[in-house]
Amino acid sequence: MPSCHKNAYITTPIYYVNDIAHIGHAYTTIIADTLARYSRMSGLETYFLTGTDEHGQKIEEAAKKRGESTQAYADKISATFKNLWDEFDISYDKFIRTTDADHMKGVQKAFTVMHDNGDIYKDRYKGHYCISCETFFPETQLVDGEFCPECGKPTTIVEEESYFFKLSDYQDKLLAWYEENPDCILPKSKRNEVIRFVEGGLHDLSITRTSFDWGVKLPENLNDPKHVMYVWLDALMNYVTALGYGTDDAKMDLWPARVHLIGKDILRFHAIYWPAFLMSLGLPMPKHIAAHGWWTRDGEKMSKSKGNVVDPREVANAYGLDNFRYFMLREVPFGGDGDFSQKALIDRINSDLGNDLGNLLNRLIGMSGKYFEGRVDSSNVAKYYQTELDEVHASLDKLEPLLFDMQIHRYLEELWRPLSVANKSIDKYQPWTLMKEGKEEEAMALNGLIAAILSKVAIMLYPVMPAVCSKIATALNFTIDNDSWSSMVKGTALLETFTLEKIEPLFPRVEEPLLAQAEPADKKAAVKKEAKETKKSDSSKEEGVALIGIDQFFQTSLKVGTVVQAEEVPKSKKLLLLQVDVGEDEPRQVVAGIKEWYSADDMLNTQVCVVANLKPAKLMGYKSEGMLLAAKDENGLCMIRPEKPKTAGTPIG
Ligand code: MSP
Repeated sequence: MPSCHKNAYITTPIYYVNDIAHIGHAYTTIIADTLARYSRMSGLETYFLTGTDEHGQKIEEAAKKRGESTQAYADKISATFKNLWDEFDISYDKFIRTTDADHMKGVQKAFTVMHDNGDIYKDRYKGHYCISCETFFPETQLVDGEFCPECGKPTTIVEEESYFFKLSDYQDKLLAWYEENPDCILPKSKRNEVIRFVEGGLHDLSITRTSFDWGVKLPENLNDPKHVMYVWLDALMNYVTALGYGTDDAKMDLWPARVHLIGKDILRFHAIYWPAFLMSLGLPMPKHIAAHGWWTRDGEKMSKSKGNVVDPREVANAYGLDNFRYFMLREVPFGGDGDFSQKALIDRINSDLGNDLGNLLNRLIGMSGKYFEGRVDSSNVAKYYQTELDEVHASLDKLEPLLFDMQIHRYLEELWRPLSVANKSIDKYQPWTLMKEGKEEEAMALNGLIAAILSKVAIMLYPVMPAVCSKIATALNFTIDNDSWSSMVKGTALLETFTLEKIEPLFPRVEEPLLAQAEPADKKAAVKKEAKETKKSDSSKEEGVALIGIDQFFQTSLKVGTVVQAEEVPKSKKLLLLQVDVGEDEPRQVVAGIKEWYSADDMLNTQVCVVANLKPAKLMGYKSEGMLLAAKDENGLCMIRPEKPKTAGTPIG
């Protein structure tokens, strides 16, 4: 965030209490939490607001259906949101409820100010209202003259006395605001949508209702008790009443908001009505309104009737809260729609988190343990690895603007570059070779480099994965806070000499989906069919029917290889890490699951048969660029080797 910002007021939408929290709510809240945590870490005075939206016809009807009093019903559902955020350790500073007395007073005050300055007048409203969206629609926008253009549900014809807000007066002022503030609405494509909508002309907005009760009453001096305020006027005002607007103004110096996080479905309310209300109140405009996309599940819209709504608590319990947070923020470019699938989540956990991050820490613990009794000393890192450090800092420098530009997936992508520098450095400089050659100082410096990279990445990943990064920091004997952020990310400081704390593996591999799948009927049929076909082809293999032509056989490149280096993969019971000369410029690295039968010494300087054109794979974080042929029966495993020594690289076939 550019240094001109001294504080960061960050908000989520306030959630309707007619439903329990789902993945969409969790997504907005987690993004806001990430921004708030980053702001705090970077030393800004941060205020993070979330809460519940409890008035309106929709809530009144939902309570009635359940035979509960509206207030009791709102209390109950509001608490489910608050409990979930507490369980998720969401770092909100205030949880506002639109039924809070202070909030209601603030809304009445705002109504008075807008009324006094001539922006509100009384008339009759005749038109269509969608209760589900709590929105008025002109007849021209309805589908088939009756249905809501947003959610498709039938609208209700409303004809009643109403107070109106002179939205039409604000058309030009709004257009000027969008024009002068190119990043007031993010992503920018959404700003263009809003501009087009406003250019199409704005109607005055009905801001009170008389046909139900559940809402904020008008200020008493208007003496019009049958009206309650339109739920969106009431709800939007929460962003300032939470700071004391209309009551004690206690925190109004935090206004304007640094960012209002919302979903794309409520952009119009935030990008048109809200700024117009603020202009009328004489308050400054928010800096950014950032609209994210919509989450689907396995490619389908989520709905209660389909039974495919993703419960964020279930996902977090099964896969880990921080993993879930990482997945949501990394998987989808902000503003785009996202699809929740367990497969995608598992891939992210095993690959990005397990292989690239978790395994790097394991490698550091392994190296330090094996050669230096767990000690890490950074004194000579710059002497040997300045280039790598420069590369790491070049990436770190790019991060902050990406975050507040809402390019969070790119932030995480860029943050993985230093990890790649670290993993590559181990492969390139090979601590085991350095030790063998007596270059102990250089090996320790490599250790220090890896620890430095891990510590810097942990700081910048902390806002997204707070619990995991705090554990990494514990292992590396430092604390993530404004000091470490200033010295190690903004500055180039490295860790002090320390001894590594051993910690539990951070990302145990996930082998299969951990939650019951809510597959749609046609998908189920497709999966069954696929299973049947797989079974069929397996049995034909057993019967020897799956014959291949010689051309197919020759698509496999088999070569004689010589093992020139062999060692154990730290922490693995099964894997050896081999460097195999197959007649190319450099030996190939092969990770082989043979440790139960062969030690590293057994394999060194022996010949093997290598499948040389397999796609590289990663095992426990190590790249494997080939496979060794072996035969295994109940007595164990043996390598397939040339009968007589052959030149490395000799083709087999
Ligand atoms: N109460 C209003 C907001 C008032 S803010 C002054 C409201 N509440 S809501 O509970 O219906 O929705 C809250 C947020 O959840 C919205 O930002 C909406 O975009 C988001 N989502 C609801 N379903 C969603 C998905 N399936 N995917 C992503 N976000 C979704 O609107």
